Amino acid sequence: MHAPRLFPEHPVSDPYKYILPLQENDPAAYVTLPGGTEAWLITRYRDVRALAADGRLSINPYANQREVWRGLSACPLPKPFSVVAKNLLTLDSPDHLRVRGTVAKRFTARQAKGIKDFAADVAHDCISAFHCAGTADLVSQYAEPVLNATICKILGIPDEVGSKAAAAAKEIWNCPVGKEKSLWLAAAEVSHLVNEIIVDGEQASDDAASDLIKSISAGIIDLHEARQLFGQLFIAASESTVGSIAKGIIALRDSEYWASDAEALTAQGSEEVLRFTSQVMSSVIRYARESIQLDGKTISPGDSVMLSFGAANRDPSFFSDPDLLLLDRTPNAHMAFGAGSHYCLGAHLARAVVKTSLDVLRQRIPQISLRQPADHDYHIGLITHSVKRLIATWNPEK
Ligand code: HEM
Repeated sequence: MHAPRLFPEHPVSDPYKYILPLQENDPAAYVTLPGGTEAWLITRYRDVRALAADGRLSINPYANQREVWRGLSACPLPKPFSVVAKNLLTLDSPDHLRVRGTVAKRFTARQAKGIKDFAADVAHDCISAFHCAGTADLVSQYAEPVLNATICKILGIPDEVGSKAAAAAKEIWNCPVGKEKSLWLAAAEVSHLVNEIIVDGEQASDDAASDLIKSISAGIIDLHEARQLFGQLFIAASESTVGSIAKGIIALRDSEYWASDAEALTAQGSEEVLRFTSQVMSSVIRYARESIQLDGKTISPGDSVMLSFGAANRDPSFFSDPDLLLLDRTPNAHMAFGAGSHYCLGAHLARAVVKTSLDVLRQRIPQISLRQPADHDYHIGLITHSVKRLIATWNPEK
């Protein structure tokens, strides 16, 4: 079967221009993704939610007899790749549950609440450092340092390792589609950097690294699994949260809310920002274990399937006025954090960091102007759609 390219242009500044029409015309569309993989792209809310919890799909590319994910199979670097290839998003249960359970307690709502003050302090420090300049790139000077400091604290990564790992994580997410070699090298770099923390670390500290070390001693996971999970936590946290903050700033600055006298975003408002920005646009690829009938099509065993969380979050049959940012939207069962067993492990933490960053910025610099990002300021990968820089200006005297 010849599959049409999902995005005929490159780079793509608005992926939804191509994805959303599929929802109505071809909700289970067989397309060629950037990079060359052919996959079923699922765009309707009800189908995405159902398939995210459907045991007929596997997330494990190694169990897939066809190994169709070209990014994987074409990779000429099996050795470094092998140090990061098995993580929560390539494991099916029971291994998935076993590995996820080793760090789950670090990512509860209670833990996230506890880290809010720390994130707010970092946010204030960032703004104090650049405020008098009257201009800043809110991606590299604000969203990234707030997220990096917070995730390093939770994971137990020292600052000097954290900044190197952050640079490598950024390279992973900004890697042009089709250049997976540099992606896997950067992923191996993250794994290498965090490896020592697990190998030489202490069990006594109050962080995820210590939890992992205890789990290794208890025989729940091996060292190989622990370091892959550790690297994944760092990588998964970065782009998703940074991008949500940056796009959240753009969305809110354009809304009436920014100029209102509300003290801070409500929890509802913050959820709506997450739905609206849908920074993690698509799932990682799943593989059909058996035939699945959908919308009159047959997804055959071994076929690749991608769930478009971003499209589902804009499905008019589920959300009224889906293209509007409605800060009092309720209910709001969005899938910005996915759904099913691979639901985002860091969702509570991400909520806390995104809301705190947006609130602190608005409180400190209410009169902010944003330069409209140009096409080249966006990066579209297979999974995320990001703003790489967001230049803001303000009058530092005010
Ligand atoms: C606003 C920020 C974030 C968004 C929008 C987001 C979104 C998502 C989505 C959609 C998935 C599911 C992917 C799939 O099913 O293929 C996911 C999984 C995951 N996320 Fe996040 N994420 C965010 C922040 C974080 C943070 C801060 C962490 C911190 C550790 C994190 C760790 C993970 C992990 C480990 C998984 C895999 C879970 C599993 O397979 O069991 N994420 N995320």
